[in-house]
Amino acid sequence: MTELAKLSAADRATLTQELERRYDAFKAQGLKLDMTRGKPSAEQLELASKLTVALSAEDYKASDGTDARNYGGLDGLPEMKAIFAEMLGAPAAQVVVGGASSLQMMHDTVVRALLHGVPGSKEAWGKTKIKFICPSPGYDRHFAICEHHGIEMLVVGLNDDGPDMAEVERLVASDPAIRGMWCVPKYSNPTGTTYSAEVVRRLAAMKAAAPDFRLFWDNAYAVHDLYAETDALANVLTACAEAGNPDRAIVFGSTSKISFAGAGVAALASSPANIADVKKHSAIQTIGPDKMNQLRHVRFFKDYAGLVSHMKKHAELLRPKFEAVTEIFARDLGDQGVAAWTKPHGGYFVSLDTLDGCASEVVRLADVAGVKLTAAGATFPYGKDPRDRNIRIAPSMPPLAQVRAAMDVVTVCVLLASLRKLGI
Ligand SMILES: Cc1ncc(COP(=O)(O)O)c(C=O)c1O
Repeated sequence: MTELAKLSAADRATLTQELERRYDAFKAQGLKLDMTRGKPSAEQLELASKLTVALSAEDYKASDGTDARNYGGLDGLPEMKAIFAEMLGAPAAQVVVGGASSLQMMHDTVVRALLHGVPGSKEAWGKTKIKFICPSPGYDRHFAICEHHGIEMLVVGLNDDGPDMAEVERLVASDPAIRGMWCVPKYSNPTGTTYSAEVVRRLAAMKAAAPDFRLFWDNAYAVHDLYAETDALANVLTACAEAGNPDRAIVFGSTSKISFAGAGVAALASSPANIADVKKHSAIQTIGPDKMNQLRHVRFFKDYAGLVSHMKKHAELLRPKFEAVTEIFARDLGDQGVAAWTKPHGGYFVSLDTLDGCASEVVRLADVAGVKLTAAGATFPYGKDPRDRNIRIAPSMPPLAQVRAAMDVVTVCVLLASLRKLGI
């Protein structure tokens, strides 16, 4: 097919009529498809169903003799810390296991910094107006934390190898109000980008005007590979230590999309100074996390290798859905010159870029035809995509046939919105 922009006016009119016919046919089907939720499917959750019975009535002691039924164990059971140590890339002594949500740990880390500062701060971050760098498109809930707490967000572009480093370095070196940066360094939400070793090195080594600048390193998709050949991510804690900025990065992760979403186990890892600071605060916040849940996870996965091999079963379920999305995009949009999309090797999303100014219209058209997409703009700070072109596609949750049906609708919507934009 010829690129849409190169079609004659008559051919465009014919194509528009044909697409409108198809669109009306979709509408008439009364579809109810939801592509908004980056959640595991029921089949994925089923893979860990035995986790709920992984403990017998007599099984409550951790390897160090801790009774998991009782208070205490602020930083986690040794065997749970060992698993996260490998997942997050830190010695076990530099891991703190939390509750069920890494997002909550990120939120609390930000709020503590606003109230008390972090090691190296002259004063609490909240004493002055502060800013975070937000590579975009990115994770809406990171941006929501900033917006909720009045932290100004600075949008920086995301390239194939990670954030636009020239821009990040320029900003961080020149503005002491910049205290943080959100990073989803592996299979980024929503683009699937994995930061290159060089980007990790530059983030670790760059000059920061604020001595207490922090990388909020959300490694949410650390083991969420779709293929046997996986993207490699350099160890940010090692890179920071080597660059003489040992306290710069705080690494977060959880088993939300490994065991149960919202009922898994979360953890953070960082330098000894940051970990001591986290423990000081969390000792005020709680007498200890849910160690029975930790023990269930440890019994079920056994060790980090067990967890990684469990993720291969997730990949089997997820891969066909991701491939259906990219196959249908290639089939319907491949030669049209009106869209670009990612082909991620892992994570939970495919990111679709339309022509500038078309994303909200595509989302609206799809909605009217019974396909719910994540709101346009959601992947940018303040919900505003300056080019109105990015759409986050979440293929994990619906069954494969529904993913295919939804994408058939989406491509028709992209073509229609593009034709209208191009002046038909
Ligand atoms: C990048 C990223 N971080 C964190 C989370 C949430 O993690 P948790 O369930 O551990 O709070 C998600 C969930 O979609 C995510 O995409």
